[in-house]
Amino acid sequence: MAENETTLIRLCEIAAVPAGTVKRVKVEGLPALAVYNLNNEFFITDDTCTHGQASLSDGVIDGDMIECPLHAGCFSIRTGEPLSFPATVPIRTYRVRIVGEEIFAEIEKAGTQ
Ligand code: FES
Repeated sequence: MAENETTLIRLCEIAAVPAGTVKRVKVEGLPALAVYNLNNEFFITDDTCTHGQASLSDGVIDGDMIECPLHAGCFSIRTGEPLSFPATVPIRTYRVRIVGEEIFAEIEKAGTQ
């Protein structure tokens, strides 16, 4: 049985996301992503809020939570879970891989049958 393949997609340099900030990154083949630096621990989620057309990277980081700039719905940066109304649908999260000085998203592709 074929195993799922993992692809690394380069997003940006570590230096582009200082501690306590979030950066919007758009790369081919993926929706717009938000890359977060929480005390030099990195996380990646979808950038578009699940409640409306707002860019979470324009929002405010509060601990390990991102507050949407449009209606103040909050999501866990670690898990994508919605934490406060009107956010009710999780945002997708992505596995992070650091290679050298660069941040990559680790994407699982379905294995070929
Ligand atoms: S668009 Fe994000 S909470 Fe409404």
